[in-house]
Amino acid sequence: MTTGHNVHLLPQTDQLRAMHTIIRDKDCSRADFVFYARRVIRLLLEHGLNLLPFTEKKVTTPVGATYPGLEFASKICAVPVIRAGEAMESELRDVCPGIRLGKILIQRDKRTKQPHLYYKHLPDDIAQRHVLLLEPMLATAGSALAAVDVLAEAGVREDRIIMINFLSSPEGLRRIAAERPRLRIVTSAIEDQLNEHAFMIPGIGDFGDRFFGTIDAGSQR
Ligand code: PRP
Repeated sequence: MTTGHNVHLLPQTDQLRAMHTIIRDKDCSRADFVFYARRVIRLLLEHGLNLLPFTEKKVTTPVGATYPGLEFASKICAVPVIRAGEAMESELRDVCPGIRLGKILIQRDKRTKQPHLYYKHLPDDIAQRHVLLLEPMLATAGSALAAVDVLAEAGVREDRIIMINFLSSPEGLRRIAAERPRLRIVTSAIEDQLNEHAFMIPGIGDFGDRFFGTIDAGSQR
């Protein structure tokens, strides 16, 4: 599909495709799934951090020269959508050790596929921050949009939200573009389509279950 300027698809390098090949295999061990998913998550997070604003900062190097550099210009925080989004937390803490973390618990109804918000807890000053929204799966986009609504109600500007997403559907991306056009999305793959059960095709299965080991391989999602 043609992606809008707010969709940042990671370069589809052979290495990235090789990692996707391992973790999309229904026979992939849990250890391999976690290891390679975390490598891709690291790439997504680094790309997401590139989208934050920077200001100029000069430093003097050990040889006395001036390096005309940059530094982060804004405060940030991260908000994982529980449960799958928590899979991204440890990689994030590796690159941003002191980052503030909010939490939003949203679960898709197994039958209707509609998202339900169960819990939220956000930093008090979140309206002054850029927010990394950690949501690995974008299928119908219902869960992601419900999470963005929670952030918007807390005063976060739409253009200050960067969604870190592992796998997205064309349908989900179109819906985000229509309903939240200034939201930015970093993703590692755009799937072919959703099937009649709102599962992504070719897909990866249930990311949360595979990452946290709560189901055997062979899930249809
Ligand atoms: C899954 C996934 C996303 C959501 C994507 O969550 O982690 O949050 O579905 O689907 P959507 O775009 O159609 O809303 P689920 O509710 O199954 O919970 P989980 O995080 O525990 O897997």
